Amino acid sequence: MVVDAAAAMLRLDPPSSQTSPPGVRATRAAVVPIRSLRPRHRAAVLSHLLELTPADRYLRFGYAAQDTQIKGYVGGLDFDRDQIYGIFNRRLRLIAVAHLAYGAEPQPQRRAEFGVSVLPTYRGKGLGAKLFARAQLHAQNDRISQLFIHALSENSAMLAIARNAGATVQRFGSESDAYLELPSPTFGSQVSEAVDVQIADTDYRLKVQAHQFWGLLDGIRALRQRMRGGRGKSAP
Ligand SMILES: CC(C)(COP(=O)(O)OP(=O)(O)OC[C@H]1O[C@@H](n2cnc3c(N)ncnc32)[C@H](O)[C@@H]1OP(=O)(O)O)[C@@H](O)C(=O)NCCC(=O)NCCS
Repeated sequence: MVVDAAAAMLRLDPPSSQTSPPGVRATRAAVVPIRSLRPRHRAAVLSHLLELTPADRYLRFGYAAQDTQIKGYVGGLDFDRDQIYGIFNRRLRLIAVAHLAYGAEPQPQRRAEFGVSVLPTYRGKGLGAKLFARAQLHAQNDRISQLFIHALSENSAMLAIARNAGATVQRFGSESDAYLELPSPTFGSQVSEAVDVQIADTDYRLKVQAHQFWGLLDGIRALRQRMRGGRGKSAP
């Protein structure tokens, strides 16, 4: 069934309301469909970012971003020039978002900057690293020669993702820059990306169908309850 198929592809509902305790690694999903977002997802991106705590906003943007600043950032996202990636859970909630930002000006060496956020209850499952790998693959195929990440030096998780991918990290006091040189595209890298896109599209379609199915079921249940209530009222 549609619902089971969607669930099987991605088991990303948190086992509890909290992240794993320190030192305990949460189960990592084997396949994580990562969808390239379009302008119609702007509202979902905004909701995702507004859910971040002040501390997370500080880590994500490098300053204490207020709601109006986040709204401005999301309103200015250029979905044609840049790549915005998202991971949806079974209820179509956007649980992680990454932004691969291309420089506005043409540069001799093409660079792109990576930024990411994962909702707290979904952290430690490898989603941040998978989003980085997805952005890295796209950037390689798009002939970007260097990926760049600006992070606070205290941001161990982000810097671990960059280091694990082979980036060079330079620390400037409380801030750090990470650089990852990318190879030229290959047939293999292009096929990998095409497969990723197919998986993400299929997963999303299954989740939308499941969502509609459960919505329909809820509607029928509500109607039945109303009818029962109506019968009860008309009884003497
Ligand atoms: C940074 C962030 C995206 C990481 O997401 P995540 O899904 O939890 O990351 P992953 O599960 O892929 O973990 C990546 C690596 O970081 C390590 N890590 C995760 N949390 C960590 C922590 N609190 N301290 C140290 N290392 C940590 C993991 O162990 C893993 O390294 P490993 O594979 O060598 O074990 C997430 O913490 C977040 O959204 N933070 C707020 C916003 C932010 O800081 N954005 C980055 C700035 S652009």
